[in-house]
Amino acid sequence: MLQVKQASKIYEGKIAYRALTDINLTIDKGEFVGIMGPSGSGKTTLLNMIATIDEPTTGEILISGQNPHVLKKEKLAKFRRRELGFVFQDFNLLPTLTVEENIVLPLTLDGEKVKEMKRRANDLAEKLGITQIMKKRTYEISGGQAQRAAVARAMIHSPKLLLADEPTGNLDSKSSKDVMEMLESINRNEKATMMLVTHDPQAASYCNRVVFIKDGKLYSEINRGDNRQAFFQKILDTLSLLGGDANDLSSVRV
Ligand SMILES: Nc1ncnc2c1ncn2[C@@H]1O[C@H](COP(=O)(O)OP(=O)(O)OP(=O)(O)O)[C@@H](O)[C@H]1O
Ligand SMILES: [Mg+2]
Repeated sequence: MLQVKQASKIYEGKIAYRALTDINLTIDKGEFVGIMGPSGSGKTTLLNMIATIDEPTTGEILISGQNPHVLKKEKLAKFRRRELGFVFQDFNLLPTLTVEENIVLPLTLDGEKVKEMKRRANDLAEKLGITQIMKKRTYEISGGQAQRAAVARAMIHSPKLLLADEPTGNLDSKSSKDVMEMLESINRNEKATMMLVTHDPQAASYCNRVVFIKDGKLYSEINRGDNRQAFFQKILDTLSLLGGDANDLSSVRV
């Protein structure tokens, strides 16, 4: 589904900065993979390269066998719309629209019929438990509800690959658990491949596999197996080996 081959990223500027070095990563269809690592280790850089928001300096990224970075602007926009879904930490919902209008936004870009759009939005809303807030504007709902609306928007066009950067970063532990359980069930039921960047070991424990990055390089990876509690403990152990700034620990939820 996704192959990152020998990818490196150097940010040019007054002082060039090497953010990623020789990353090799393969993600199979239907996998749910977490990316963890200290602040500044290159997680967002990696996700943005896969999201086609940014390009690798060297190396290559293939999504469903295609290299999106060689596509022309219009083709790339279409590729992004069809194949990818995004969830960001700060939700990125438009405040002047209702929750429902936000959710169907990606479909309006593709010229889908209104009836069909609403049907799909309502299906998703039911799954995500946000049916009762569909007519509200986004400033009238809670952070947890906003994040669920953002997930619905990211899933409305059934993307093959869902990319999320700190989707639970602004949520309390209950909402965070709700969002992760929802992502897990979407992963299972819709067979969507998912990649999640997070500082939160509890959130990461919902993934099938967690990949750790340190100083722009792959450090190690661990698999969930069938015991989430044991996996959670392994994640904590790896994070403490990995080090990082004290700030990272503030997001550990107990
Ligand atoms: N546009 C940019 N120009 C120059 N340097 C950048 C740019 N974006 C990120 N960097 C640098 O690249 C490194 C990796 O940044 P990145 O945002 O990928 O880290 P991260 O692992 O997502 O961190 P965090 O956990 O704090 O979000 C950092 O040292 C950062 O300062
Ligand atoms: Mg980041």
